Amino acid sequence: MRAYEIQSFGLPNLRQVERAPSPVGPREVRVRVRAVSLNFRDLLTVNGLYNPKQKLPLVPCSDGSGEVVEVGTGVTRVKVGDRVMASFAQGWESGAPTLEKLRTTLGGPRDGMLQDEIVLSESGLVKVPSNLTFAEAATLPCAAVTAWSALDQANLQSGQTVLLQGTGGVSLFALQFAKLRGARAIITSKSDEKLARAKALGADIGINYTSTPEWGKAARSHTEEGVDLVVEVGGGGTMEQSIRATRPGGTIALIGVLAGVSTELLLTPVLMQNIRIQGVIVGHREMFEAMNRAIAVGGLHPVIGETHAWDAAPEAFSHMADGTHFGKIVIERA
Ligand SMILES: NC(=O)c1ccc[n+]([C@@H]2O[C@H](COP(=O)([O-])OP(=O)(O)OC[C@H]3O[C@@H](n4cnc5c(N)ncnc54)[C@H](OP(=O)(O)O)[C@@H]3O)[C@@H](O)[C@H]2O)c1
Repeated sequence: MRAYEIQSFGLPNLRQVERAPSPVGPREVRVRVRAVSLNFRDLLTVNGLYNPKQKLPLVPCSDGSGEVVEVGTGVTRVKVGDRVMASFAQGWESGAPTLEKLRTTLGGPRDGMLQDEIVLSESGLVKVPSNLTFAEAATLPCAAVTAWSALDQANLQSGQTVLLQGTGGVSLFALQFAKLRGARAIITSKSDEKLARAKALGADIGINYTSTPEWGKAARSHTEEGVDLVVEVGGGGTMEQSIRATRPGGTIALIGVLAGVSTELLLTPVLMQNIRIQGVIVGHREMFEAMNRAIAVGGLHPVIGETHAWDAAPEAFSHMADGTHFGKIVIERA
């Protein structure tokens, strides 16, 4: 069985190796991997920037889909032939996160999906929505569940307004889920062409954050008192504008740090306006399943920006680094 692994950090060290197949134990399932999608985290992990203490070798990538090819004794949740995805944190099935549950994530610290096959507990698997292909399904476990969790935790209602940053994976899922909820979406991007594509997907207002550096103020001007929710993927470099955009009593869902992990901030507007800053770390399996029901009923299809062949996986990582993509990057078997 072939697997991509890093034996030392750095994208040039991502190589295919031969590995012995793992045995399938009780309540475990062997999945033949058909497609994998990339998250920014996978790039950071490969380069040793996500967790420099990560034990190596490691098979990267949390997100993938495939077909069940073998089940162990006592397995009841899936059967041979089922199309499945792996849940991001294998041990987080429901409820509040704990440190123990959060230590069960695929693609670090546990081996991930960028391999021919993987043996997982049946409790860490989720069935693919019937309307999706393997490639589409592979995009869901991290970015989509995170976006779903952000909107859910803020209880985004029909008629409310959400501000989305950029046109990466998390933001475009948040756009699709916001429209499904009947909410209004303002989206930013460095590219007018990407803004036009986001509008074609349902975004109501587009703001170029390069030509409009005060994009938070601009977003606020499209509302009565500010947006109800910001899906914050920029972090340090964007938080100030996000606070400026948010209405009194609104929420900033802090998800990513694309624009920096730290910053100096004037905090008084947060308390004076009763703004809630909510950290979001993906979500649990039951949330993933609830999201899938909405995807099937709503007929949603993830936005795949580009697809790479299995043997060209390192190129896919390079494309993620250059930030030209729109939506998800997928690595697929022929
Ligand atoms: N907390 C969690 O559970 C969780 C889960 C998933 C992801 N994340 C994090 O969320 C972030 C986004 O992840 P992703 O997978 O969506 O990444 P992605 O697909 O690589 O998104 C990258 C896009 O973000 C936009 N962007 C970059 N810098 C920006 C800035 N300063 N302001 C506004 N937009 C900016 C750009 O869009 P344009 O080209 O349109 O400008 C870029 O193409 C990452 O930091 C990731 O690690 C966290």
